[in-house]
Amino acid sequence: MEITVIGTGYVGLVTAVGFAELGHRVLGVDRDAAKVRRLQAGDPVIYEPGLAEKLVAQQGAGRLHFTTEIAAGVRHAPILFICVGTPSLPDGSADLSQMEAVVRQIAAALDGYRLVVEKSTVPVRTSSWVHRTLRLYTRPGIEFEVASNPEFLREGRAVHDFFHPDRIVLGVPSQRAGDLLGEVYAPFHCPKVITDPNTAEIIKHACNSFLALKISYINLIAELCERTQADVHTVAQAMGLDQRIGPEFLEAGLGYGGACLPKDVQAFIHIGEEHGLDFSLLKEADAINRRRVDGILQKLKRALWILEDKEIAVLGLAFKANTDDVRGSQGLAVARALLDSGARVRLWDPHAAARAQELLSPSERVAYTDSIWGALEGAHAAVIATPWEELRALDLARVAATMLTPIVVDGRNLLDTEAVRAAGLEYHPVGRPSVAFT
Ligand code: UGA
Repeated sequence: MEITVIGTGYVGLVTAVGFAELGHRVLGVDRDAAKVRRLQAGDPVIYEPGLAEKLVAQQGAGRLHFTTEIAAGVRHAPILFICVGTPSLPDGSADLSQMEAVVRQIAAALDGYRLVVEKSTVPVRTSSWVHRTLRLYTRPGIEFEVASNPEFLREGRAVHDFFHPDRIVLGVPSQRAGDLLGEVYAPFHCPKVITDPNTAEIIKHACNSFLALKISYINLIAELCERTQADVHTVAQAMGLDQRIGPEFLEAGLGYGGACLPKDVQAFIHIGEEHGLDFSLLKEADAINRRRVDGILQKLKRALWILEDKEIAVLGLAFKANTDDVRGSQGLAVARALLDSGARVRLWDPHAAARAQELLSPSERVAYTDSIWGALEGAHAAVIATPWEELRALDLARVAATMLTPIVVDGRNLLDTEAVRAAGLEYHPVGRPSVAFT
């Protein structure tokens, strides 16, 4: 069937390409003309494993096109997915201005029934606002409906996640809307949760906030382990073996970053308060997460005594592995905190350095390196900030020989303690016993 996807960021582009591969004829819309030109030329703009090949293949098959014109998107399909950004406002609530702007443009172009589907993460009751906006700006007599179909893709695994969802959530106002969305997702045989739009909107915030809670919980346990010489890795392993808890999202470390979890926790706290509920449970998760970077700084201070003028390698700037996304990046936060302490930073990331450069103010105390070894050369300490595979497989003897003082603070608990000891490194993981310099 014909489908329009409005907004071609990390979610929208993967969704557009995925729908095309399922056999739908997809038109992707984005207001950024330069980006649309690159997409039309087969350049995905973002780094997401497997995406570039699929983009080119679907364009070659004639099932995927891009435009800047929302009106063209409205003409193209009976179903329009909105995938625009919903960043945080200063008070933590979601900024829905991009959403509103898109909805007004859709309204102006409507000439007959369309199903408008929110895929962006939005506060509960947004579908009512979308409906009201369409009613206000559409010519009288034109039919439309609004549904919520939240997305659960993880960056870095988004293509895989698109084709292997745990479940699909369809928040629909009617049988007609349910049937249309049912047709879009007919090829999937996973559980489909069919519900109303308000419930679907809450499901998305409830999931992301729960994931954040789980991460902050294990990070709190890591803090206790550090004070009691216990090992959080083994605690998490044993917890995860309990089927009621499960092993995922129990990796202690620098905490959660990215464009979703931090923002969605803030937004959900705000939504709770708007409805007279005290979401201090989530405030605590947020507070634990915010002190992760400081925890790494403290480890560095304990190891180096003075940070001023020390050369520190920060290994990893993407907020997680397999992406070039640096929004909410803990690696960048560590780099900023080090610069504030007077240190010099040597930054390495296999995919995210260019985007990091856009966010970090240039300074003679900041150097970007093409290789891990370039970052480690002459460094007083190194911080592992992103769990890139390259870092797991490091030649540790070479690390010790390359650094000026072989001190590694492992913000992602990637390295094996025995291997580190054998290589003669001083090693400070998170929530696990350190290895002293010998
Ligand atoms: C998250 C959700 O996992 C997706 O389901 C959702 O669709 C997406 O937000 C969204 O709302 O668009 P994402 O932000 O791509 O996906 O990344 P996650 O895999 O959730 O990781 C978030 C952060 O938590 C990363 O910084 C990661 O390093 C950190 N993390 C994750 C931990 O610190 N410990 C863990 O055990 C797991």
